[in-house]
Amino acid sequence: MREIKNPREMYLYSLKAKSHGKRVGFVPTMGALHEGHLSLVEEAKKKSDIVVVSIFVNPIQFAPNEDFTGYPRNTGRDKKLLKNFAIDVLFLPPADKLFPDGFKTFVEVDVLSKKMCGRSRPAHFRGVATIVTKLFNIVNPDVAFFGEKDYQQQLIIRQMAADLNFPIEVVSLPTVREFDGLAMSSRNAYLNQKERKSAAILYKALSLAQREIQSGERDVNKLLFRLRSLIGSEPVVRLDYLLAADPRTLQEVKSIKGKVLFALAAYIGKTRLIDNLVVEAE
Ligand code: PAJ
Repeated sequence: MREIKNPREMYLYSLKAKSHGKRVGFVPTMGALHEGHLSLVEEAKKKSDIVVVSIFVNPIQFAPNEDFTGYPRNTGRDKKLLKNFAIDVLFLPPADKLFPDGFKTFVEVDVLSKKMCGRSRPAHFRGVATIVTKLFNIVNPDVAFFGEKDYQQQLIIRQMAADLNFPIEVVSLPTVREFDGLAMSSRNAYLNQKERKSAAILYKALSLAQREIQSGERDVNKLLFRLRSLIGSEPVVRLDYLLAADPRTLQEVKSIKGKVLFALAAYIGKTRLIDNLVVEAE
C-alpha cells in the first residue's frame, strides 16, 4: 500500500495506471473506518485493477457549530485495517493543499441539496460536492464507490457526475449495520452506553415502515405517525426529520406506490445520526 499525500503525485500515479489500461476504483472517506467503509473497499477490489482510498476530514462540509474538531481521527488504526485489503494507494491530502488561502470555487447541486439533511445543514452538500469534485479531478477514477447509508449524498454525487460530465461510474452499496440494526457510522463512537442502546430505535422504526407496507398500509401520514410514536418511546432520541419520499427526486410522497424512501435524522444527546430504508410496495 503506497501512501500519497501530494495531489499532483496522486494525479500522475493515476494517469500512469490508466495509460497502462488499468481500471482505477476510488473510495473517498473521512477515516475512522468501520465495516461500512470496508464493504466499499471490498467491492472496489472486485470491480477495479487499482484501488485508491482517500482519508480527508473535509472542513467545508461542517458548519462552524458542528463536530469538525472532534470528528474521530485515527489514521494509524485505519492504515492497519486497510492493509488487510491490499489496496494500492492510500491518499492522505493535507488540508492546506486542498484548501489553500484564497480558495473561492464551490460546486452546488440544486434542489437535491436543499431537501432532507440540507434543511438543517444548508452548506453541507455544497461542501461534499466541492470536495468530491476535487477528489475526482485528482484521482481521476473510472469507478467510485459510495454507501446508501448516506442516501442523499450518493444521489447528489450521481447528479453532479452526470451534470459535470465526469466519465466516472458511480456505484452505491447497501448500508452495513450493527447486530441490532443501527447503521454503522464513525459518529456512533460519540454515543454513551445508554444512548447507544436507544439508537437502535431508528432502524426499528424504518423496519416497522417496511412491515406495515408489506401488510398493506399505503397511507404515509398514518405510517409516519406510528414511526414517530415508536421513536418517541426513547426519550433520549430527538427527531430532526422523518419523511417518506420518491427515491429519485427526494420529493415527499403522501401515499405508497412502488419504491419509497423512508429517511430520518435524529439527535441522540448531542450526536446527529441519519438512516434510511427504501421500501417497495407490490
Ligand atoms: P464517510 O462518512 O467517511 O463515508 C465514506 C463512505 O462510506 C460514504 O460513501 C458513506 O456513505 C459510506 N458509509 C458510511 N457508513 C456506511 C455504512 N454503514 N454502510 C455502507 N456504507 C457506509 O461520506 C463521507 O465520508 C464524506 O461525505 C465524503 C464522501 C468522503 C466527502 O467528504
